[in-house]
Amino acid sequence: MQSILITGGAGFIGQNLVHAWRMAHPADRLVVVDAMTYAANVRSLQSLIADKSILFAKGDIRDAALMRRLFEEHRFTRVAHLAAESHVDRSIADPEAFLQTNVLGTFSLLKAALDSWRSNDALDRARFLHVSTDEVYGSLASGDPAFSESSPYRPNSPYAASKAASDHLVRSFVATYGLPALITNCSNNYGPYQHPEKLIPLMIIHALEGKPLPIYGDGSNIRDWLHVSDHCEALMSVIEKGRVGETYNIGGGNERNNRDVVGRICDTLDSAFAADPRLAARFPSCPAAAAGHSCRSLIRYVTDRPGHDHRYAIDATKLADELGHRCDVDFESGLSQTVRWYLDQEDWWREVTSGAYRDWIDKNYGSRTAVNAI
Ligand code: NAD
Ligand code: TYD
Repeated sequence: MQSILITGGAGFIGQNLVHAWRMAHPADRLVVVDAMTYAANVRSLQSLIADKSILFAKGDIRDAALMRRLFEEHRFTRVAHLAAESHVDRSIADPEAFLQTNVLGTFSLLKAALDSWRSNDALDRARFLHVSTDEVYGSLASGDPAFSESSPYRPNSPYAASKAASDHLVRSFVATYGLPALITNCSNNYGPYQHPEKLIPLMIIHALEGKPLPIYGDGSNIRDWLHVSDHCEALMSVIEKGRVGETYNIGGGNERNNRDVVGRICDTLDSAFAADPRLAARFPSCPAAAAGHSCRSLIRYVTDRPGHDHRYAIDATKLADELGHRCDVDFESGLSQTVRWYLDQEDWWREVTSGAYRDWIDKNYGSRTAVNAI
């Protein structure tokens, strides 16, 4: 039995990891700490909190006294660190919060773990898993080999730079103080509970509401899509079986350009509406609600993101060779399930897309103009 701290457990990947961990390790003590920023939502955790299957602490990882108290009280032997500011466009609009949480927050957590594990003689049995991103490696050209663990760091956005800085801090705590930490760098996740500021949920929800589908630039940018369930399985494998001090890349093996992703979301919605006439009554503004019309009519090519990375792709050979772990959710079925999840969870995304979300949409998209795509 372990005592595990999951930071950012009310975020997208965090919520999925909490459920996956609870299923895989029912006897463990599981504590979630989350500052409950705009990106957080505890709806899916309510029943676990209510029946005390998990303990939830609302708090900021930069709060050194709180981190120390949590470590003293719960004697964690596992930390899965996911708390972060995670959206590239927000980091372009306002980078400060990214440095605060991703760099200073990670430092505060590393320090709390080190102090606790040193004073409890736990350095030889504890594990600190730092969850990071492939964006630290920068951008690939079309024919380049995929990112491996030895690819140089070349972050291009303030988000990626802040994650790169946090990776370097973790590495330094391993080398200098012997902290038993591991790092994972993964590709773009998708699946249930993803905040609708990110590409896939944004396009699904905009299409249902009959709003424009804003593709940046010409839509040729490529991401390597990883289903969040695959990611969580890989994280659990790395924290238990990975070698301390090592980095493991996690990718879905699903490279797709943004045009294709958005087109497929539209086609999936068109088919769902054709198969189920009740959807037209629930979402009358969606073009697919009218016979013979397609969500594709909403696609707009708009001003590109500054510094927009062209392509990410992950070489996950090390994860497979060392830990025997392979991510295997194929993108087309994972995307269909995800579209179905958002169709079924209207209450969830209506709550998340009220208030401050609308301000963000105005701020990020209001001044983008239409561009001609090829
Ligand atoms: P998310 O934005 O959905 O969730 C982040 C969570 O962290 C939120 O619940 C938020 O309230 C919490 N948080 C933010 N600042 C905090 C602070 N100072 N103290 C405590 N909690 C705080 O992000 P996500 O998509 O779930 O990503 C989780 C991790 O995975 C991040 O570290 C991110 O960099 C990394 N990652 C995500 C992706 C992806 O595609 N989503 C890809 C690669 C890496
Ligand atoms: P995003 O989900 O923000 O993830 P990341 O920037 O971490 O890759 O974006 C995924 C891709 O989709 C990226 O190439 C930017 C593009 N994109 C759009 O074209 N339009 C949008 O409205 C958003 C949010 C993203």
